[in-house]
Amino acid sequence: MAVAIYPGSFDPVTLGHQDIIERCSKIMDKVIVGVLRNNSKSPLFSVEERVTMLSGVIGHLPNVEIQSFDGLLVDFVRQCRGDVIVRGLRAITDFEYELQLSQTNRVIAPEVDTMFLTTNLKYSYLSSSIVKEIAMYHGDISAFLHPDIARRVREKMDGID
Ligand code: PNS
Repeated sequence: MAVAIYPGSFDPVTLGHQDIIERCSKIMDKVIVGVLRNNSKSPLFSVEERVTMLSGVIGHLPNVEIQSFDGLLVDFVRQCRGDVIVRGLRAITDFEYELQLSQTNRVIAPEVDTMFLTTNLKYSYLSSSIVKEIAMYHGDISAFLHPDIARRVREKMDGID
């Protein structure tokens, strides 16, 4: 059974993330979405909120699980008995960082490989950070997020105002 680990901050989950998870779930026997708890990026949503939001939009996929994790990604992969890390590649700008991440992970855990899925062209420009910035200035984020996620982001931003 092939188990993929799809790690990230998911702060918040975007339609681009959802697209990768859905496509990955068709290729792999099981997908574990790993939500990073201790994030140096100071997330807008707590890890519990991010897990709940992910469950709301991908909970219908029978072979997908959502877990939070702390510490090194490769330790999480080992703990889950994962076969491969999956990451989305949006554009050439992602490549350098993703290469660095995957090569470093291979040095510290040689048995852990990384596979890349190219992001759907519709979402190739999309990032959680940009969505948060648009929301911060009360812009329209409905094209980037599931309606329930967009509502949660707006509510969170209203609470910060
Ligand atoms: O969604 P993101 O923020 O691009 O995801 C980045 C993530 C979570 C994959 C990366 O920060 C990560 O793996 N963090 C865990 C800590 C770790 O293993 N660091 C060493 C990797 S080189």
